[in-house]
Amino acid sequence: MKKYNVAVVGASGAVGEEILRVIEEIDFPLAKLVPLASARSAGNSVEFNGKEITIKELTESIFKEEEIEIALFSAGGSVSAKYAPFAADAGAVVIDNTSHFRMDEDVPLVVPEVNPEDIAQWSKTGIIANPNCSTIQMVQTLKPLDEAYDLLRVDVSTYQATSGAGKTAMEELVTQMQDFFAFKLDESEHKSFNHQIALNLIPQIDVFLDNDYTKEEIKMVNETTKILHKDVELSATCVRVPVLRGHSEALTLTFDSDVDANEAREILRKSANILIIDNPAESEYPMPATCVDQNETFVGRIRKDLYRDNILHLWVVADNLRVGAATNAVRIAQKWIEMSEIS
Ligand code: A2P
Repeated sequence: MKKYNVAVVGASGAVGEEILRVIEEIDFPLAKLVPLASARSAGNSVEFNGKEITIKELTESIFKEEEIEIALFSAGGSVSAKYAPFAADAGAVVIDNTSHFRMDEDVPLVVPEVNPEDIAQWSKTGIIANPNCSTIQMVQTLKPLDEAYDLLRVDVSTYQATSGAGKTAMEELVTQMQDFFAFKLDESEHKSFNHQIALNLIPQIDVFLDNDYTKEEIKMVNETTKILHKDVELSATCVRVPVLRGHSEALTLTFDSDVDANEAREILRKSANILIIDNPAESEYPMPATCVDQNETFVGRIRKDLYRDNILHLWVVADNLRVGAATNAVRIAQKWIEMSEIS
């Protein structure tokens, strides 16, 4: 089997580190791993399969020099905007974790359990986009239920962990908690978020748009339509919560046909990479602590609406750094390999 030269751009970051862990854990056909970051981290090393590998500086020419075939980008939108085209020009397939290319009509936006066939469009630009973390776990759940009941509308509230905003945001939560126990939380700084995140909730993720929704909320609307190839009504309220890892979502789904909660549970149980934890009698349901380091999306609290037969409520939790970023990116790479080896 052919093996591939893989670059991880942003290898010192929260998602980049997780990509290394996921590649380590699975049987990835890897010839060479090249961790890349800014000049700040170049020369430091990352641990991979028990060895230290030196981080190199991201430059325009590095992809050609290292003969990179797969480039996984998670170093922010502006870095992808500038450097992804150089990776693509060097012949690599770029799998981009940022929002920069997601809505470009020539760039496929892929969740492998939902729209793997869209990967075939990758050659238009050389780039495949990874959706937003909160979109990925949601559409994995929506797709099988849409096939069964014909989805019309989604109302979602998210409870998003600080790691979604990177390592410094995680550190900000920890520092503020330490400051709380030192009786100096009121002096604690907040840089990653507009407000204190410790012992708080912030109903704003990313900037507000003219329509009073945040950019994160509108990403969920636009990305869901693009991935499902369907105009679904969607209303999102995205909330940052004082959790380090694991996004949770309360979903209210309206269908064209009547739903049965037990049947919906069985449909989801049979769906790829979804695990059901739904035992109210024993207080068993998914929580952020359940999903850390896991590659599955956890679903529970599945119940019918009290008033309408075509409405279902459920609770979806996944590790945002894995399912919402690294695992999805690596699964796209695996699927791309599978498809390019067949053709
Ligand atoms: P560096 O460590 O050199 O700053 P996080 O999302 O956890 O904040 O991580 C962001 C990742 O993106 C880090 O690996 C960071 O590397 C990388 N990064 C940020 N800016 C650049 C840049 N201009 N060029 C290359 N890598 C960058």
